[in-house]
Amino acid sequence: MNHDVLQDSSEGVMTLTLNRVDKKNAFTQEMYGLCADAMLAAADDPSVHALVLQGHETIFSAGNDIADFLQRAPSIDSAHAQVTRFLRGLVTFPKPLIGAVCGPAVGVGTTMLFHCDLVYAGDNAAFSMPFVNLGLCAEAASSLLAPQLMGYHRAAEALLLGEPIMVEAALEMGLVNRIVPPSEVSALARRQALKLAAKPLPALMQTKRLMKQGQAPALLAQMDEEGAAFARLLQSPHSKEAFSAFLEKRKPDFAKL
Ligand code: COA
Repeated sequence: MNHDVLQDSSEGVMTLTLNRVDKKNAFTQEMYGLCADAMLAAADDPSVHALVLQGHETIFSAGNDIADFLQRAPSIDSAHAQVTRFLRGLVTFPKPLIGAVCGPAVGVGTTMLFHCDLVYAGDNAAFSMPFVNLGLCAEAASSLLAPQLMGYHRAAEALLLGEPIMVEAALEMGLVNRIVPPSEVSALARRQALKLAAKPLPALMQTKRLMKQGQAPALLAQMDEEGAAFARLLQSPHSKEAFSAFLEKRKPDFAKL
């Protein structure tokens, strides 16, 4: 039994809690698979009206597991089957999706939030997409959504320079709905989810569909293009150097390549 993602369903709300805190909630392929399965089940279950995605009060997620990146790089297709299911599930999830974020949200920890309908954050939250620093490129359609959501130049700072976005800036950009103390984030997300659970599901689903009208094909196409580039970059000496450097707790040296 894998406890790295905890799943709870009650009162019309499914909650997925990332629970690999010793590794900063870094996503393994198994965790992507668990989240994808739960989202599919939630989408089909008429008793679920809303889904909450949350981490720990100190860390939302450090993004993809870097050791997993290194180990699985040679078999790109199978390695990415689970992450692809998860990312596509985010785009097509038909019911309200709520992110509850405290602490660092790195890589996919940030890009998954672009697909949430509501995001509540702790005052310790910080968002970063350091793909380039790792020799990689944007994923989860963030190369399309980040410029749309925050404007091109701020997206370039976040995606090209990999600079973190502090929670106040994220609020100002409209990436989060509200900031509260970390100890209150989960309860706030649940309260909002329960409000949604009390509303008529067909009306919620139609409204979300209309607000997202037409976006899914473009997002899925962008994800495919990102996925192909990402897979090539995963094989590059630059990404291997960046992953090894992280695991060896040193700075990467790209100059030697
Ligand atoms: N993949 C694998 N392991 C990770 C990880 C990741 N993405 N992020 C953190 N960990 C592990 C560390 O290796 C460390 O393991 P150890 O205790 O066995 O040495 C443990 O989690 C704690 O991480 P540490 O870096 O010591 O915590 P911190 O509080 O100083 O920093 C972060 C937290 C999230 C800022 C930092 O861990 C980080 O930058 N992680 C990498 C983020 C990243 O580049 N993700 C990929 C995006 S595509």
